[in-house]
Amino acid sequence: MNIIYNEKTGIFKLDTVHTSYLIGLADEEGFIGHVYYGKTISDSDAGYLMRTGEPPYVPSRNNRDRSSFFDAFPMEYPGCNTGDFRESAIEVLDAGGHNAVELTYRDHRIFQGKPGLAGLPATFGKEEECMTLEIDGVDKVLELEVTLRYSVFADVDVIARSVSVKNLSKESIFLTKLMSVSMDMDADIAQEDYRLLTLHGSWARERHMDFREIGYGKTSVGSARGESSHQEHPFMALVSGTATQERGDVYGFHFVYSGNFLAQVEKTQFDSLRLQMGIHPKNFCWQLKPGEVFAAPEVILTYSAEGLGGMSRAYHDLYRNHLIRSPYKDKKRPILINNWEATYFDFNTEKLLDIAREAKRAGIEMLVMDDGWFGHRNDDNSSLGDWQVNEEKLQGGLKYLVDEVNRIGLKFGIWFEPEMVSPDSDLYRAHPDWAIAVPGRVPCRSRNQYVLDLTRREVLEHVYRSVSEVLHSANIEYVKWDMNRQLCDLGSLYLGRDNQGELSHRYVLAVYELQERITREFPDLLLENCSGGGARFDPGMLYFSPQIWCSDDTDAIERLTIQEGTALIYPLSTMGAHVSDCPNHTVGRNTPFSTRGNVALAGTFGYELDITKISETDRNQIPEQVALYHKYNDLVRRGDYYRIASYRSNHFFDCYGVVAKDKKEALFTFVQVLRRPNYHSRIIKLAGLDAAMRYRHEETGKRYSGDTLMNAGIPVQEMWGDFQSKLIHLTAEGE
Ligand code: DGJ
Repeated sequence: MNIIYNEKTGIFKLDTVHTSYLIGLADEEGFIGHVYYGKTISDSDAGYLMRTGEPPYVPSRNNRDRSSFFDAFPMEYPGCNTGDFRESAIEVLDAGGHNAVELTYRDHRIFQGKPGLAGLPATFGKEEECMTLEIDGVDKVLELEVTLRYSVFADVDVIARSVSVKNLSKESIFLTKLMSVSMDMDADIAQEDYRLLTLHGSWARERHMDFREIGYGKTSVGSARGESSHQEHPFMALVSGTATQERGDVYGFHFVYSGNFLAQVEKTQFDSLRLQMGIHPKNFCWQLKPGEVFAAPEVILTYSAEGLGGMSRAYHDLYRNHLIRSPYKDKKRPILINNWEATYFDFNTEKLLDIAREAKRAGIEMLVMDDGWFGHRNDDNSSLGDWQVNEEKLQGGLKYLVDEVNRIGLKFGIWFEPEMVSPDSDLYRAHPDWAIAVPGRVPCRSRNQYVLDLTRREVLEHVYRSVSEVLHSANIEYVKWDMNRQLCDLGSLYLGRDNQGELSHRYVLAVYELQERITREFPDLLLENCSGGGARFDPGMLYFSPQIWCSDDTDAIERLTIQEGTALIYPLSTMGAHVSDCPNHTVGRNTPFSTRGNVALAGTFGYELDITKISETDRNQIPEQVALYHKYNDLVRRGDYYRIASYRSNHFFDCYGVVAKDKKEALFTFVQVLRRPNYHSRIIKLAGLDAAMRYRHEETGKRYSGDTLMNAGIPVQEMWGDFQSKLIHLTAEGE
């Protein structure tokens, strides 16, 4: 049993293979308290950890100091404005204009399996793979029922938490804040010098790892940009002071959602920590009518005593097996060539066919036509919304092009930005009210475009039909679904006064609905999400697409840091990564073609260059890279990820690897970013191997035992020049 309830002590105990999570009921009123989360403990009778036997005591014993109790008790899901002055998890606006909420225990259920979340992406598992606890708390005055849901994925040391609220009263109530998780960490545990790890970024430098001290008061990251964003990521981890890649305590929190979020740590007067994650309360106000239920997205919690690496591998396994649904998730993806950096908007049928022919000769398997094929879009100023083929560019039409590409022997993929409309488009001229805007204000343009109000049924249906018709018109096997601006001027002509605060969340739900319908209608379609690079790289989108474009920055060296931050929580099989031309279009750097290939091999792998124009020396390397992809991709997609060294912190070199689950094969990538003068070979200590196995190093033919490679290391000769790289391929003897 992974979840038990001890009626005598009022304790719920949830166990994964290496962790325990305990919740306790306290005092006669039935406060729901947080008891413990961390490395496995055996006792379920651990209610003493809630410290209710010490001053200020529980209200039944000391009601004169009720607020002291409330302000110190480790509340599992804190209410608002009734004495706990720390951050609340739920806030409302009731019929009288008040915001107080106080939850006490009413009921619970424990069962095998895990229910889905209506309209939302969520992890899933068969009955034998997971188990769920639902605790109903109730505010008796508001007649509001709050269900706290915990699903245990024991094998991967994960607990998925979510919350839903039901209005049992006869009046509407407005939810103004609803965190998906709140967790109070006891002062003594919190004293262990934890740092906060988040992923920070911007366009072209997404998901850079950022560590910070946790001071008193509140420390947070979030997005109120309508998407998970380039800038902050819906993830945070508490990392103990001494933690490394393979040792030390790490608590991870990752939000399965693609819109506004808040991730916050509050360090209190008593040195305890309150951690919260959920939909950002900014721009959120949801009307809950009598009998209605609101479901908040889920947060994936994992605790690792094996450092950051342990956390990474738990997330990777969970997402590969219990989140991504695409039929491609376990398959090698076709090697694609995308024409964005090759031609930008300047292409036509002949140009694309020239690229396709040359690509075929090199072993590439799919041509992707990026932005600029529709309306009169010759730059980024027009035509979004007019999803009709521009026949001046694509002479013969789309079907002709696709058939020709197929005849050459390549699959065909296409780019869309379905959520947007250009002011200069037939769609906008016909329906200016379909754009998100505040009445009386000219909405702010970004990349000269507006966002469609997908909360309007007719808009959503129109968008759906537009995409679906194009996909039906030819043999299109891949879609890159882009989204190139963030949301502001939040106003919908469709939603009433009481519902304007629902726009941001409804927008995200509409995007999910669109992708759900498209992937159902075209079940074999390979969908790649994208948002101006990697601004919507989040677990929510992975539920619909098995891969996401990581960043518009394709420079191999910039990608080391971006891919390190991404691989911290996402499987390598999800990271869209391409080899592009040099000087790199974002940073102007020249790197060896081989290094660009080696770095892209850590992701989905493809090309983003004009193969008809690059140097012959570079072009001649493509078949070799294609062969490497075919040789290693099964291992990269399925294996366990180990981070060995980080250029981000050492400023000289980067090294990471993938080890097969059975430990019989491993591939490590070493990138010498800067050559160090007058320096010997580096000894790199590998990780994740079987200590007792003997391995053959493919390049040198030398044999080493696993423990030697991990404890003593393997030499890597300094290479001539900066940005050089090599692959270290190991196979167990006898394999
Ligand atoms: C942003 C994407 O990240 C790029 O790859 C490209 O598709 C452009 N948009 C096209 O406008």
